Amino acid sequence: MDQASKLRNIIKSNQVNYRKNDARVITVTSGKGGVGKSNVSVNLAINFRRQGKRVVIFDADFGLANIEIIFGISPKYTMFDMIYNNMSITDILTSAPFGIEFISGGNGIQELISLSKSQLDFMISRLYDLDCLADIIIIDTGAGISDTVLDFVAASDEVLLVTTPEPTAITDAYSTLKTLKNRGGDNKNKQIHLLVNKASGEAEGNEIYKKLNKVTERFLGIQLNNIGYLPYDKTLEKAVIEQKPVSMLYPRSNISKAFESLADNMLGKDTEKGKNLGLSNLFSNILKMKIVK
Ligand SMILES: Nc1ncnc2c1ncn2[C@@H]1O[C@H](COP(=O)(O)OP(=O)(O)OP(=O)(O)O)[C@@H](O)[C@H]1O
Ligand SMILES: [Mg+2]
Repeated sequence: MDQASKLRNIIKSNQVNYRKNDARVITVTSGKGGVGKSNVSVNLAINFRRQGKRVVIFDADFGLANIEIIFGISPKYTMFDMIYNNMSITDILTSAPFGIEFISGGNGIQELISLSKSQLDFMISRLYDLDCLADIIIIDTGAGISDTVLDFVAASDEVLLVTTPEPTAITDAYSTLKTLKNRGGDNKNKQIHLLVNKASGEAEGNEIYKKLNKVTERFLGIQLNNIGYLPYDKTLEKAVIEQKPVSMLYPRSNISKAFESLADNMLGKDTEKGKNLGLSNLFSNILKMKIVK
């Protein structure tokens, strides 16, 4: 049996579509780097926790390990240990404040395609365990239009696209969507929320949303959802330097209040129960795309 048919069989045996326990997966991405994805992932997670959700952050920015830096915690294990060292998903979770857990991707994803049938089988079933443990899984991706980032975006049902008001950040956000569109695949059911970070206020956030949505609708046929804005706030920079999430260190700051509203908006967009994608299905989707390529 060739590698492609092996993968197809594994996916078939693993993919039970939309099981009840599947977690809501939110993929955080951007075109330009440094626009605030990792801070958004962590502070959203904190606010979801405050609302009683079980949250896991998956750090898919391989190599740069953003989440651990913002929490100021270094993980003992990464996904690599799950794949090669026979560890379970719970073994590789790192505990952060408020009962949030995070997973370091390590070099895990690049390794996927070279795995044997039994390793893949094992890995996808382990990911399903995480779908039962978490209500929401936030995937923090790297910036840009790298294949790995786009794999995650393409395989996700729900994407949080972050930009700042800088023209280069907006153009790069557009380029990401354009590349996504050009890759083909089904984007009909994908929800793409636009978040404008470091905005001067609601008016600027709305203006950027309108501009970008107009061109994505017109040229790409993609409708964006305006999920709101976050203000520029020096307390976030201070918190980053202290290696503590701003929502924890300065809960009364403007930016922390904005994160609270953002979390409310996101929870208001919750999909119907039982219709969440789940992390194991997301990885199955990525593997399917790899086979087609
Ligand atoms: N709302 C904000 N107000 C002030 N500074 C901000 C804000 N958002 C982000 N920053 C600054 O931008 C920096 C980068 O943020 P962050 O690491 O979250 O971006 P990123 O998109 O994850 O970056 P990368 O693409 O490198 O992964 C922060 O360290 C902080 O200094
Ligand atoms: Mg980051």
